[in-house]
Formats: sequence, C-alpha cells, structure tokens
Amino acid sequence: MNLAPRPVDLVGDAASPSLLTLDRVSISYPTRDGILTAVEDVSFALSAGERLVLLGPSGCGKSTLLRAVGGFLKPSSGEIRMDGRPIGAPGPERMTVFQEFDQLLPWRTVLGNVRYALERGKSLPRREAETVARGWLERVGLSKFVDTFPHTLSGGMKQRVAIARAFALEPALLLMDEPFAALDALTRRQMQDELLKLCEETGST
Ligand SMILES: Nc1ncnc2c1ncn2[C@@H]1O[C@H](COP(=O)(O)OP(=O)(O)OP(=O)(O)O)[C@@H](O)[C@H]1O
Ligand SMILES: [Mg+2]
Repeated sequence: MNLAPRPVDLVGDAASPSLLTLDRVSISYPTRDGILTAVEDVSFALSAGERLVLLGPSGCGKSTLLRAVGGFLKPSSGEIRMDGRPIGAPGPERMTVFQEFDQLLPWRTVLGNVRYALERGKSLPRREAETVARGWLERVGLSKFVDTFPHTLSGGMKQRVAIARAFALEPALLLMDEPFAALDALTRRQMQDELLKLCEETGST
C-alpha cells in the first residue's frame, strides 16, 4: 500500500485534534526471500467520530495496517499515535474485529465471551458485565443464543458476537477488517446495513 503523504491540513489542528495519526508509516515482514514491504509511507489523521475505509486489492496491505493500529505489529518506520501518544500493545481502547471467524474463546459461551471482555477490558463486576453483554447481544439479534458455544454458530453469527463484544467495550477506536468478507452476499448486505446503523447510533470512530 502506498498512500502519498497527505498535506498538513489533514493531520488535524487545535480545533479538531486528531484521535489517530499515522505519520509516514511503513511495515515490513521478514520472509525467506528477504524483506517484504507490505505498507509503505502511509500518512493520515482521523478525528473522533470519523469513519475511514481502506479500499484496495487483495494483498495491498489493509490487514497489515489495521494490525499495526491495533498494536499487534510494530511499524518498521514512522509512527502511529493515538491522542498524541505513540501506541504500544493492543488495548481495550482499540478493539479489532478480525477478518477470520475464529476470534472467540471456544471454551466460553456467547454470553461468556462478551461478559469476559467487559470484566477484563472495563473492569466491570460480573453482574454488570453480564447485563451489558446481554444488551449488546440483543442488539445484534443473538438473544436466543447467549448460552451456546461458538462452534455451534454460523460464520455470520460468530462475527455478530465479535462485533457485539467490540462495541460493548466502547473503544475510542473500532477497527474492523472485512468482518463480513467470508459471508454469502445476502447475509453480508444485511449485516453491513446493521453495522452502519450501530455505527450511527454509537457515533463510533
Ligand atoms: N505474517 C506475514 N509474513 C509475511 N508476509 C505477510 C504476512 N502477512 C501478510 N504478508 C504479506 O503482506 C502483504 C499484505 O498482506 P495483507 O494481509 O495486509 O493484505 P490485505 O490487503 O489485507 O489483503 P486481503 O484483501 O486479501 O485481506 C501481502 O503480500 C502478504 O503476502
Ligand atoms: Mg486482509
């Protein structure tokens, strides 16, 4: 991926300080055939409440860039800042919904997955975490499945759980890596519409 560095007016100002800033970020992978540069010299800034879509062909570096913003990968050069501070490890203020279906804890129920994230990420007591988790699972249409285990769910349902979990934590930044890519066209369309509604309602970035 090679986005030209943007002019300064896109890097935020005092009136609307940027929530997320990417400053000349490049990301490389060591491979058997040498260094592979997956992301090259990407700069942009995002204010709170803004939504940005990275669009490009397979292999152009979208997931790589998201993984770096999520804190799962370190840029080989440049800097990623949130609220002006360089980001480090993954944290609950940056929740990621991954491209792959298997991102739930298989030994926990649907409710358990969301509840556990709230206990860990927001330090909510168990009771409260459970109430909030139920609320979000209802919003994504999974009330009937709270007590089932992830392996009994369809791909689309698993992604709904992951989305409920991500929204429940009310992260400052919600990162979604083609969460519906592997769904059939009809389900994908429906889930995209639902997701847009959730984004509007929560004002998520
Ligand atoms: N762990 C890794 N080790 C080595 N190379 C990698 C690794 N992960 C990704 N790559 C390479 O980095 C490049 C970008 O991959 P990435 O997964 O970011 O693309 P993408 O835009 O998300 O593609 P897709 O639309 O298929 O999901 C590709 O050439 C890929 O082969
Ligand atoms: Mg990808």
